[in-house]
Amino acid sequence: MDRNLALEMVRVTEAAALSCARLMGRGDANAADQAAVDAMRRALNGMNIDGTVVIGEGERDEAPMLYIGEKVGKGGDVKVDIALDPLEGTNLCATGGPNSISVIAIAEHGQFLHAPDTYMDKIAVGREGRGVIDITKSPTKNLEELARAKKCTVQDLTAIILDRDRHKELIREVRDAGARIKLIGDGDVSAAISTCEPESGIDILFGIGGAPEGVLAAAALRCLGGDLQGRLKPRNQEEIVRAKRMGIEDINRVFQLEELAHGDVMFAATGVTNGDYLKGVRFFGGGAHTHSLVMRSLSRTVRYIEATHHFDTKPNYS
Ligand code: FBP
Repeated sequence: MDRNLALEMVRVTEAAALSCARLMGRGDANAADQAAVDAMRRALNGMNIDGTVVIGEGERDEAPMLYIGEKVGKGGDVKVDIALDPLEGTNLCATGGPNSISVIAIAEHGQFLHAPDTYMDKIAVGREGRGVIDITKSPTKNLEELARAKKCTVQDLTAIILDRDRHKELIREVRDAGARIKLIGDGDVSAAISTCEPESGIDILFGIGGAPEGVLAAAALRCLGGDLQGRLKPRNQEEIVRAKRMGIEDINRVFQLEELAHGDVMFAATGVTNGDYLKGVRFFGGGAHTHSLVMRSLSRTVRYIEATHHFDTKPNYS
């Protein structure tokens, strides 16, 4: 894939972030999501790609736009698969909470796991924890192994976990093991990325979140040199059937990082609300500033882009 595609992708996440950020704190998660979807779709359709959405807003019958299987782009020789979430953390945006982002990843055809819209148990770490984690082992064991790899104690580690009832036992075990915890309301793609950002102070992500988010997080961690494992957690028989229809025969299979996002992967995210490593959209009279992250697995170059947008030249965003 042409490396310049990565910069094109930032335009796409910027467009989505600029649109939904207008609705920050206004209490309407659906409207914010719709604004991001519309803008992302428009921007994608301006790109010279023959793109297929493989991780998207859901399946065709439940998602009018950016559904799994939707074709995007102007066409051409560049055939890519796309994983996207125009607004990851819709509630965070609706309440002005931290770390909502607009996110997209692309790879050559067939390189992303076709994950159904169900849950996934995940464990993610930064570079020093690569090869150390094992989702089949207990959280305590994983913390001990990570502490060894990082040459510190478990008490020095901070885990990030979605604050959900289903995680009560997990939270209790991590506390008993002695690690610190950051509980978050939403946004486990951002949380997974934060394990690779030393400034964030986060060492490990545990817990169950969306499966599509697991693929997006894996794409990001491929570029950042971190590690992630995931195992589907369907809620009912229908979700198991759906997973099988998407080619996943063994529902208990542990997916390694490269099985979730393989090959040459590009990833871009733009902050919608302020977060641990991305600033949110800041409007000023006639324009706005955005802060984005863009990276490629091939070179592992990580770029942060601060952009100033002027709405007289971009009437769609004003
Ligand atoms: P949305 O942006 O779709 O609202 O997802 C937010 C999120 O917190 C994800 O980051 C996470 O993977 C998932 O929801 C967890 O699902 P649930 O809220 O059902 O526990």
